[in-house]
Amino acid sequence: MATFKILVLPGDGIGPEIMTQVMRVIEWFGERRGITFDICEDLIGGCAYDRYGKPISDAAVELAHSCDAIFVGAVGGTKYDELPFHLKPEQGLLRLRKDLVLFANLRPAVCFDALIDASTLKPDVISGLDLMIVRELTSGLYFGEPRGIFDHESGHIGINTQSYTTEEISRVARAAFDLARQRNSKLCSMEKANVMESGKLWRDVVQRIGDAEYPDVALTHMYADNGGMQLVRNPKQFDVIVTDNMFGDVLSDVAAMLTGSLGMLPSASLGAKDKDGKVPALYEPVHGSAPDIAGQGKANPIAGILSFAMALRHSFNRPDDCILLENAINAVLENGIRTADLLQADGKSAATTTQMGDAILAS
Ligand code: NAI
Ligand code: MG
Repeated sequence: MATFKILVLPGDGIGPEIMTQVMRVIEWFGERRGITFDICEDLIGGCAYDRYGKPISDAAVELAHSCDAIFVGAVGGTKYDELPFHLKPEQGLLRLRKDLVLFANLRPAVCFDALIDASTLKPDVISGLDLMIVRELTSGLYFGEPRGIFDHESGHIGINTQSYTTEEISRVARAAFDLARQRNSKLCSMEKANVMESGKLWRDVVQRIGDAEYPDVALTHMYADNGGMQLVRNPKQFDVIVTDNMFGDVLSDVAAMLTGSLGMLPSASLGAKDKDGKVPALYEPVHGSAPDIAGQGKANPIAGILSFAMALRHSFNRPDDCILLENAINAVLENGIRTADLLQADGKSAATTTQMGDAILAS
């Protein structure tokens, strides 16, 4: 039986509170479902800056390279607002993603039946929604050179560069095609090939890979601005979407809000298979450190726990256990148990972070 080495980085704010609940779930799967975990813990974010003077230590990055999966809570906090850019808590996370080349960011948008009323959209638009956005995470506009603010005859000029190589497009496209194959064999690629050369290359490369390697997957292309509109108009037309770093940032936030609360949204960031077949992987909730509710026991731990469910599928080869956990969460929600973020102001009493963890473990 394989032992999975995992690194736990609780981070700042509500990060440690939700990670306590995630750890209980991890231990449950260790004890009850026979998955052997070798667990290490370290610091990331503001707490790492307080200890080491930087947002992640070299030792933690090295440890991350040796692990099968990394779990992050959240980083950041107002007390770090005045730090120079390279020392900010968020840089710890960016360094990990970049160092491990986690180029495929998977953000599912799933509408739980019990939470239909939590969305701002009409029930029939979102009921049963289950889509996956694959966002390219380590290239594109957020990393391209040249970049910076330079002198200019009018004052200054700010420059960012959108660039993608064939290799960068190919690897994220294959990740998305593989995922589509495991789901409903339907993939929509989004860019702006009409006005951007990088978008034209993106479309051509994705089409070529589809034709040559994934003829069984129904591939369509859409301009990203239309994609944003279609996500709100009729999200259920999509199954898997693949897009670049910047469009993915925006479109995945749009898709996320189809489902209700930020406290429900998990993510996985995956890299390339190494020679031993291992895929570097980092799992984290989409939300941040929520300084406004930190330390009060109000945080919803479901995004963190669903991130572990994604690890069961993508890192531990336990798709059945992933479904088991998702069903347990759905059952808890069906029973009306809600943390404060999932309650309308209707006077019902909210469950604490720990009570939500208790309910999921008991379910
Ligand atoms: P945020 O996600 O921390 O909070 C936004 C709002 O959602 C707040 O009202 C918060 O109370 C609520 N919220 C978030 N997660 C929740 C949960 N699990 N349960 C219940 N309510 C929840 O975003 P914000 O306020 O923009 O940023 C706060 C800090 O977090 C900043 O320092 C920011 O840089 C950092 N951040 C870190 C991220 C990460 O670690 N991946 C991602 C986003 C922001
Ligand atoms: Mg964003």
